[in-house]
Amino acid sequence: MSKPVTTRTFRRMKAEGRKIVVLTAYDWMLARYLDEAGIDAILVGDSAGQVFAGHRTTLPVTLDDMIYHARAVRRGAPDRFLIVDMPFLSFQVSPEDTLRNAGRVMKETDAQAVKVEGGAALAETIERLVGCGIPVMGHLGLTPQSVHAFGGYGLRASEAGEADRLRSDARALERAGCFSLVLEKIPRALAAEVSAELEIPTIGIGAGPGTDGQVLVTPDLLGLTPDFRPRFVRRYADLDRIVRDALTRFAAEVRDGSFPGEEESYP
Ligand code: KIV
Repeated sequence: MSKPVTTRTFRRMKAEGRKIVVLTAYDWMLARYLDEAGIDAILVGDSAGQVFAGHRTTLPVTLDDMIYHARAVRRGAPDRFLIVDMPFLSFQVSPEDTLRNAGRVMKETDAQAVKVEGGAALAETIERLVGCGIPVMGHLGLTPQSVHAFGGYGLRASEAGEADRLRSDARALERAGCFSLVLEKIPRALAAEVSAELEIPTIGIGAGPGTDGQVLVTPDLLGLTPDFRPRFVRRYADLDRIVRDALTRFAAEVRDGSFPGEEESYP
């Protein structure tokens, strides 16, 4: 059995130039597959709101939803490093409110860390969590909880002003004590530059190959979200086709009486 991943492992992997592999999970079944595949860390992302619950954005996701998903994931991957997304408005009200919410996540899900979306404005909140022993992953670039402020899910930080802000936000998050940072949907050169400058590892999604690790939304790479086709997703399977085919055949075979057959029936 390999040594468990911790926040220190993240740093060591960056120092040794070993890429960090992160994927999302929302339930016990998927978590078991990720565990068996030896993924370094599982993110219980609030993308659950979209790929699990069918919402148009991540904004409706509640703290209780995240705790429910994280507990299921933990049962499927009992020893894996688990990071849980703090949903919209669970970390913006005040550092004390955030501490209570993140504390619930840590107590009720057996996660090792939480993730928050946002820059320097969150520094005091992050310091409060880290000061109480809660590891925090930051998230910059396309932060989906701000979709309405951005006016969509397009590329971020492609113009100089926003790129400069992202650089200083990244430094502020590192200073505040984040152990790692997600960089989402930003130009590859900017992601590589920020990754080289920071001591903490960056985990990219749509940020090119120069980050210290990569994360994808697992249903995207499995081909279960066929209508979502951003440039940064590589499809490693076409489960959409396989699932459709299996369900169509089941329905046909029930209807034509060929299921269940002799071998699927008790004498
Ligand atoms: O919610 C999520 O799945 C995420 C990843 C895309 C990084 O935040």
